Amino acid sequence: MSDPASDGEAPPVRARGLVKRYKEVLAVDHVDLNVNLGDVYGFLGPNGAGKTTTLRMALGLIMPSEGRVELFGRDPMRVGARALEGVAGFVEAPTFYPYLTGRKNLELLAALDGGGGRGRIEEVLEVVELAPRAQHRVRGYSHGMRQRLGIAAALLRRPRLMILDEPATGLDPAGMRDMRLLIRRLADEDITVLLSSHQLPEVQELCDRVAIVDRGRVVYEGALAELRRRGGSTYRLRTTDDPRAVELARAQAGIERVDSSAEHGVSFQAREHEVGALSLALGRAGVAILSLTPELATLEDLFFRLTEGEGSSGDGQGPGPGAGSPAGAGAGAGAGAGDGSSRPLQTVGEGPSS
Ligand SMILES: Nc1ncnc2c1ncn2[C@@H]1O[C@H](COP(=O)(O)OP(=O)(O)OP(=O)(O)O)[C@@H](O)[C@H]1O
Ligand SMILES: [Mg+2]
Repeated sequence: MSDPASDGEAPPVRARGLVKRYKEVLAVDHVDLNVNLGDVYGFLGPNGAGKTTTLRMALGLIMPSEGRVELFGRDPMRVGARALEGVAGFVEAPTFYPYLTGRKNLELLAALDGGGGRGRIEEVLEVVELAPRAQHRVRGYSHGMRQRLGIAAALLRRPRLMILDEPATGLDPAGMRDMRLLIRRLADEDITVLLSSHQLPEVQELCDRVAIVDRGRVVYEGALAELRRRGGSTYRLRTTDDPRAVELARAQAGIERVDSSAEHGVSFQAREHEVGALSLALGRAGVAILSLTPELATLEDLFFRLTEGEGSSGDGQGPGPGAGSPAGAGAGAGAGAGDGSSRPLQTVGEGPSS
């Protein structure tokens, strides 16, 4: 893995042939990842797919059974905590001392980290919009506030790469929106973000590149736009004569999965070119279009297609059945040390679980 990025600097994350076995469970099965500078990279997969396990290996919390991962060219298994320079984040959920205030928790973390982040505490509290609550004990924080405090703690280190495991899971719609805005803001400040999620809308809105994992294997890696382009789009159509529109759509080459319901009108899958042709055909037949909308659920369709059977490949990643592994997440832990143990690290607070 000595292939550097095009600008001469090693990429934020490069994993090659990453494997993690837990007895008979193959949690991660030869995963390759390529997170480039400036990416907001989505690591997407159903429960138990191996996302957290992969991120744990990336953060040097657990040792790969095979393969390796490098952060800016540095392998946590080889160079220890030094690999985490410029890297911050958390897996599962950040943990803090519940009986201390948010600000005090950050002060402790800054001190553990050598004190450099101390001067940034007020600033990062502002960024995550916790300043008004910083003098309150973490015990009284909501889930969303703890997630944001986790990001504040990570920001203390001025990271160039932020690794976040399902940052928006468990948040209410407003909390999710705030989290998305926050991640956007990180990206705008040139922080490369690797985030895992099983929420397609989140990934769709935030990420330019994705890896989709299923049962430990990468079934697609590459640009989100490319994934969607390959799959075509689902469209919803409402006209003055839907039964006739269905006939015309079925008659036209390149238009597939034509369906109709009273509630949603006509739906079909097609590429843009064929949609244009259909609109002309409708016009010629005297059927007026009331609305024609490309459906954003396409990523969802593709996701299920990739993770529930057929499979596909992207950027050279082949699909595969993978080893079956029972669903369920690993034990909770904060981001940790680069020595292969689960020892907590300054990256993000790891106090007694709150
Ligand atoms: N410490 C462990 N011991 C045994 N099995 C484990 C351990 N950690 C993870 N696994 C198994 O590895 C597989 C992948 O788990 P992982 O937590 O990485 O999935 P995930 O994609 O993060 O899922 P979720 O979306 O539910 O968080 C699961 O089958 C899980 O049971
Ligand atoms: Mg997980």
